[in-house]
Amino acid sequence: MVEFTVEQTTRPTSAEQRAALMADPKFGRVFTDHMAVIRYKDGQGWYDAKIIPRQPLQIDPASTVLHYGQEIFEGLKAYRGKDGAVSLFRPEANAARFVASARRLSMAELPEELFLGAIKALLKVDRDWVPAEAEKSLYLRPFMISNEVFLGVKRANEYLFIVLASPVGGYFSGNGSIPVWVSEHYTRAAIGGTGEAKCGGNYASSLLPQQEASDNGCSQVLFLDAKERRFIDEMGGMNVMFVRKDGSVVTPPLGGTILRGITRDSILKLGRHMGLTMVEEPLAIEDVFKAAATGDITEAFACGTAAVISPIGEFRRKAGSVAFGDGKTAGPVTMKLRNALCGLQRGEEADPFGWVHPV
Ligand code: COI
Repeated sequence: MVEFTVEQTTRPTSAEQRAALMADPKFGRVFTDHMAVIRYKDGQGWYDAKIIPRQPLQIDPASTVLHYGQEIFEGLKAYRGKDGAVSLFRPEANAARFVASARRLSMAELPEELFLGAIKALLKVDRDWVPAEAEKSLYLRPFMISNEVFLGVKRANEYLFIVLASPVGGYFSGNGSIPVWVSEHYTRAAIGGTGEAKCGGNYASSLLPQQEASDNGCSQVLFLDAKERRFIDEMGGMNVMFVRKDGSVVTPPLGGTILRGITRDSILKLGRHMGLTMVEEPLAIEDVFKAAATGDITEAFACGTAAVISPIGEFRRKAGSVAFGDGKTAGPVTMKLRNALCGLQRGEEADPFGWVHPV
């Protein structure tokens, strides 16, 4: 068991200020008072585990992350139940994915116990920042950068692991269904690339197509496979699922280019537990446009830690658009899954999977 030293801030946010900040937090704009930090050096291992006041980093401008982008991150949430208890949802899955991402980016692998230890130590000091309202939670952002001071291109020998915490509501502004832009030129990840890793570079490369999406009035960009531009992969920051008119739910299979979404996996398992037919199979974009137009696909939704389950109203591309259902209202299967997932995450539903992790 690693002990974290704790340095409390000398300027804590008052309860009134905190309530004001948490009243309507824009995603990722409000932060708690502290952060967790652990350092790593080859030969020494993980050391200097601490909770300190949230503050700017001082890193050398020759730190390798600033040049070659060795950076990975995670996203998970702490929830407050009706009884006031605080819990995490499948944090071990995030810890395992963090190790997998580190391996792909050739970074030091943080043991699961330290990943969870850092989050728990941070929650101990910043627990009051976990919102009580049903649609809000405390988003946790563990991340790691390489900080060896060196300009050669090689695996770094020093790393910095940090956890930030940010009270959040919904990821998208507004409550309605989102329009999604189909990127027919840019792709996100090729087979053998880093698509499955949660590394900053994947998100950096999504920003220009995401801008194209915004320019076309859309909230997210949808990527197709890099080889044929034919099959649906995932969106800029979340996975995607569809509901067929027979009530079955279908999502593209994991094949190395798609992020192994923990929300995606939870929905597949939860849906099956609820008696729904949950299918992982390739979805050609042309077929989806046709099926949405004929009513064979009735609903679509985005899923991820930040997005939770967000209904998609329509797909747009250069040649035209197609709506799912009436294009405005979240469909019944989407809402059923959303309510079941949120109920489970908040400890309001029984947890047959052992996913809820009280802290
Ligand atoms: C998450 O859902 O946690 C993500 O990492 C998506 C994102 C905000 C980049």
